[in-house]
Amino acid sequence: MTLKISRMECIACGRTYETEETRYRCDCGDLLQVVHDLDRIGSEFPDLKELFEKRKESFDLPYRSGVWRYHELILPDLPRRKIVTKGEGNTTLYRVEAISRAFGVKNLYLKHEGENPTLSFKDRGMTAGVSWAHFLGMKYVGCASTGDTSAAMAAYAAQVDSMESVVFLPYKKVSPEQLAQPISYGARTLSLDTDFDGCMNLVQRICKHHPLYLLNSMNSFRIEGQKAIGIEAVHQLNWEVPDWFVIPVGNAGNVSALGKGLLELFQLGLIDRLPRIAGVQAQAANPLYLSYKTGFSESIRVKAGDTCASAIRIGDPVSRDKASSIVKRFDGVMAEADESELMEAKAVADRAGVAVCPNSGVALAGLKKLRNRGEIKESDTVVVICTAHGAKFSDVSVNYHTGNLPKLQPSRLNAPLRLPADYGAIVKALDL
Ligand code: F0G
Repeated sequence: MTLKISRMECIACGRTYETEETRYRCDCGDLLQVVHDLDRIGSEFPDLKELFEKRKESFDLPYRSGVWRYHELILPDLPRRKIVTKGEGNTTLYRVEAISRAFGVKNLYLKHEGENPTLSFKDRGMTAGVSWAHFLGMKYVGCASTGDTSAAMAAYAAQVDSMESVVFLPYKKVSPEQLAQPISYGARTLSLDTDFDGCMNLVQRICKHHPLYLLNSMNSFRIEGQKAIGIEAVHQLNWEVPDWFVIPVGNAGNVSALGKGLLELFQLGLIDRLPRIAGVQAQAANPLYLSYKTGFSESIRVKAGDTCASAIRIGDPVSRDKASSIVKRFDGVMAEADESELMEAKAVADRAGVAVCPNSGVALAGLKKLRNRGEIKESDTVVVICTAHGAKFSDVSVNYHTGNLPKLQPSRLNAPLRLPADYGAIVKALDL
């Protein structure tokens, strides 16, 4: 592949920078995005759909990966030998009758990003971010995290001998399964007496003055990998565009990435229309929802409160401006879900054997609201992005089913039966 198909460009003033430069913001202070020369990609690779289809048939990395299969659209200037991959992506697009019925949508798909190697969608962004860091020769990579970004970053960085990772976590606000990952992968793990927004603030300051390469989603190379969620979903639907994508929103990188990828597919002529996008937040951490209510005229920050959807407990999303322009461009909407709504929605998917995280429950609860309001119709084709595996937040599931979540009355209690190891007692209890 020839070099220089991409550049970095400010989302506000349009100033451009070379991709080799280590920077996350424009001199004017706004975020950057990676912009590809799509005309050149289109003319150099006229048969992209066939190329992607062919790669799908192979067992070989990197192109078996559900990110690097789309290499030409992700980071076309990145040499193949610099790719750090775990074969991420290729996540199932579940279509389950019981879930469709419960949400009143005939063509409902759940894109289960919890099936990624570290059990969340973050692997898509991290394979791109860590590969780019490797290409640039970075020794140290760092991020703030509510738990999933740090797990993914540490796992990918651990694949590069010369790379070390540092993660900034809010003390006692990540699940044990999330914490287990960075410490196992050898990351220097900081547990700080603050929340995610506090960690984000600190890591940005430290990265500015020290040789620590920031791999939060404000690093625009990560967004390029994350884009593959939408690209792969549409590929799985045989390039038919659904009416809606519904996605949970925290720091707002993922919704921005989803939109960017779909827009590029549209500009390249690989799809013939754009879907609508619904972003959903937890009521306890809903700054973008509140901002949406003002037509995005106000930039709102909140102090994020306690929520079972701990991965999106974020009051000051870094990618707010990218996200709001995507929501507007896609004729999108924002919704919010309270604790009971998100846990009940999660329980519907779990009960059907699709174990999703509480953050995905937020998206499903948003779907239910939008469906009830008639915004989403029964006949619409809807893809819900389920961002992490339920097993990554097992305490929340156990507490829900055993009735141990404060102030919640679960409709699907299913506590384990404590019985003596006795044949008669078991037969009596089972009443088969
Ligand atoms: N779902 C899960 C499971 C997440 O971990 C996150 C973000 C989101 C949804 C929201 O995505 O931030 O791009 O809007 N987790 C980050 C982290 C903040 O540190 O793991 P977003």
